[in-house]
Amino acid sequence: MVPIIKTVDLTKKFGDFTANDAINFKVEEGEIKAVVGENGAGKTTLMNMIYGLLQPTSGSMFIRGQQVDFKTPTDAINMGIGMVHQHFKLVPSLTVYENVLLGIEMKKTVSLGEKTFKMPYLDKRRAKKEVQVIIDEYGFNLDASSRVKDLSIGAKQKVEILKMLYREVDIVIFDEPTAVLTPQEIESFFKTMRRMKEHGKTLILITHKLREVMEVSDSVVVIKDGQVVGDMPTEKTNEVELARLMVGRDVLLKVDKEYKSLRQKPEVYEVRNLSTENDEGVEVVKNVSFTIRKGEILGVAGVEGNGQSELLKLLTGLMRATNGNVTLHGKDITNAWPGQLRKKGVAMIPEDRYIHGLCQEMTIGDNTIAGYHDSRDVCSRGLMKRKAIEQRRDALIDKYDIRISEKGGFVSSLSGGNAQKIIIAREFDADPDVLIAAQPTRGVDIGAIEFIHNSLLELADAGKSVLLISNELSEVMSLADRIVVMYKGEIIGEVDAKQADREQIGMLMAGVKEGGEERETKQA
Ligand SMILES: Nc1ncnc2c1ncn2[C@@H]1O[C@H](COP(=O)(O)OP(=O)(O)O)[C@@H](O)[C@H]1O
Ligand SMILES: [Mg+2]
Repeated sequence: MVPIIKTVDLTKKFGDFTANDAINFKVEEGEIKAVVGENGAGKTTLMNMIYGLLQPTSGSMFIRGQQVDFKTPTDAINMGIGMVHQHFKLVPSLTVYENVLLGIEMKKTVSLGEKTFKMPYLDKRRAKKEVQVIIDEYGFNLDASSRVKDLSIGAKQKVEILKMLYREVDIVIFDEPTAVLTPQEIESFFKTMRRMKEHGKTLILITHKLREVMEVSDSVVVIKDGQVVGDMPTEKTNEVELARLMVGRDVLLKVDKEYKSLRQKPEVYEVRNLSTENDEGVEVVKNVSFTIRKGEILGVAGVEGNGQSELLKLLTGLMRATNGNVTLHGKDITNAWPGQLRKKGVAMIPEDRYIHGLCQEMTIGDNTIAGYHDSRDVCSRGLMKRKAIEQRRDALIDKYDIRISEKGGFVSSLSGGNAQKIIIAREFDADPDVLIAAQPTRGVDIGAIEFIHNSLLELADAGKSVLLISNELSEVMSLADRIVVMYKGEIIGEVDAKQADREQIGMLMAGVKEGGEERETKQA
């Protein structure tokens, strides 16, 4: 059988930097092909060439045996290739079907006397119906006339998929589609993939989550430093082998946490009866109380959307408490601004690294000091010390193994994992007493996850207090000393991480308290 996609020695250079180095890549018709590799390995670059967004420096591409030379994505779409990007390209104020139709020009024949014209025209009612037919065919549980701004992330992704299905492409490339999804949304996405495969589509899944590769793909290609280092049927490999190929060394897929008794340690950070309301006046954090001791990691587990985001905002100065207080070493820091918190020794890894963690339009160097720019070693008498900033940047790039093609470049050129490492580097380097970390490994590759996990454990070993808010239950379970579970804005239960089991926490996450017992107070 002729492969539906084949590349021969496909190479892409950015200046002197070779992002794709003579890649020979093949996809068979009707299969789900996983493409794995660490951040910066060159996965997106390869796909962007196949989708016509980038032009190869050398080498060739064949689609169904025919050599192609794509100048734009339109050329690729005309050959039946679609791509769903990591960052969605939707217009929030428009409806589902309007978004699907964007970019497709429809023509209607109009007669004026003897002449007929082709006029740009949108038959909205018909289009809406057509979109709804695809929605139902794929079991998307969406309404074609809903506004995109009202949709969850998982539903927005379905709109992106609808765009491709409506254009009748038969090859769909997904670039890290699960990075922003909840566990439930991921399951639903896999269902969609399988459904698409049943409809005869060929799918390419870029990911660095090996569990997903094993679960959904037929074959897998591994890319490292711009080269193919492995290509095999999924059933012939396993997570350990894939991780080794990706990273080039053995990777610990699980951390080894040493549990110490922390009962004698002083309480450093204390939250008492904290509550807040959202813009609609709904109480989204209710009477939350906990303490974190010196050297302790307190995990906050829960299904996304149960108040964790708001709790994080309350604790990092992005939202005001309506009740309760927060103290650090016994001193009140309730409702302090981010800048004040940092000065007092509270470091933060925000949930959305691009909105609250980094400034994409700033250089990497400036981002390594963002929030700390008035500290004395980078600033004197109101002037920034450029040289000091650059030296510091280079040291951090080294220490945290941040992969970039240009040290003086902008954050926008970095992959997700490397962008996250910049935040980690900056916040750890501030030598805080308390670290508030939210979703620290979301969208980050396994080599970097191992690094971030070990860094968090080291921080706690060095006597710092860590609040770890994460939707990845396995992450919370393997790193935390104690776990509190949030449900509908409240802390519904607390468990000792050493003895915790997944099922028990899962019950709490679903709002079920143990054995009908009265909810215990969270006093340490
Ligand atoms: N437009 C660009 N200009 C310069 N370097 C780039 C550009 N796009 C990607 N790179 C670099 O190419 C390498 C591969 O990037 P990418 O294909 O995005 O990796 P992946 O998708 O595997 O994380 C990275 O080092 C990245 O910094
Ligand atoms: Mg990428």
